[in-house]
Amino acid sequence: MTPQWLLHRVAVMREPDPAFADPRLAALYDVLDGDRSDLDAYVTIAEEVSASSVVDIGCGTGSLAIRLAGSGRPVVGVDPAGASLDVARAKPLAERITWVHGDATALAGRGVAADLAVMTGNVAQVFVSDDDWRSTLAAVHDCLRPGGWFVFETRRPEVRDWERWDQAPTRLTLPDGTTAVMSRTVTEVALPVVTFEAETAVGGEVVASASTLRFRECHEVERDLDSVDEDATRWRRRTRRGSRAMWTRRVVQPSPTIEVVASSGASNTRRTRCSHTTTRSWACSGR
Ligand SMILES: C[S@@+](CC[C@H](N)C(=O)[O-])C[C@H]1O[C@@H](n2cnc3c(N)ncnc32)[C@H](O)[C@@H]1O
Repeated sequence: MTPQWLLHRVAVMREPDPAFADPRLAALYDVLDGDRSDLDAYVTIAEEVSASSVVDIGCGTGSLAIRLAGSGRPVVGVDPAGASLDVARAKPLAERITWVHGDATALAGRGVAADLAVMTGNVAQVFVSDDDWRSTLAAVHDCLRPGGWFVFETRRPEVRDWERWDQAPTRLTLPDGTTAVMSRTVTEVALPVVTFEAETAVGGEVVASASTLRFRECHEVERDLDSVDEDATRWRRRTRRGSRAMWTRRVVQPSPTIEVVASSGASNTRRTRCSHTTTRSWACSGR
């Protein structure tokens, strides 16, 4: 019988939404996404854990990857939305980054052993099915060096953020002086998933995009990290590739998002503590 962990690795993931994969919408992503002060905490953590190499999973238009590469670190940015990667590749310093078109499983066999893996902008919520989520966690685990760190965020279901997502048609002025009109409607709340549809009128066309996001409770995130640990342990035993892998994770509260810092590696590798106060209240510890 095919082992469960292998099934997770070969599963085909859901296609990225048009919001990221359609070139007309990918070109608007940075305009719509504001000042990106949400990325500051990731930059600070990269410094605090002395990350000299980083993998940005679901890097999108590369906002964080480019910030991190600016300090000279090797950075790999991976995303299945080719149109978003095209936007990223056109940015200054983009040539310093290794861009990979695919999901996290596309990193297998590339010899990536990063100090830090990140998933910013609530990428964790695009994994609607348990299989997609678990195969992503396993792939992240595999692209970290022993003792490396994994940092991501996911919105808390109890905050019910989707109740503020409806948007009446709103006119936006784009950097080139043209305008776009955007509207958004939450069409279904069937927890743990929420679906919304957006329409964007741009360049004389109306482009639609439907998105479904998965909300996970804090204890589910912890359980899923632990389950990857079990799979990784079995896999390592099977192939005799080394000692027991482990996730060390701390889920940080309170905040509208769950922010997770996980460390993957053999036991007794190191003990690190870091904490700092931002509006999002990050803290982490690892072993
Ligand atoms: C909300 S955007 C965040 C982009 C970027 N991390 C940021 O902070 O700007 C979500 C991203 O997840 C990507 N994505 C969708 N499915 C994915 C998958 N299976 N694996 C990795 N990334 C995926 C999308 O293409 C999109 O770029």
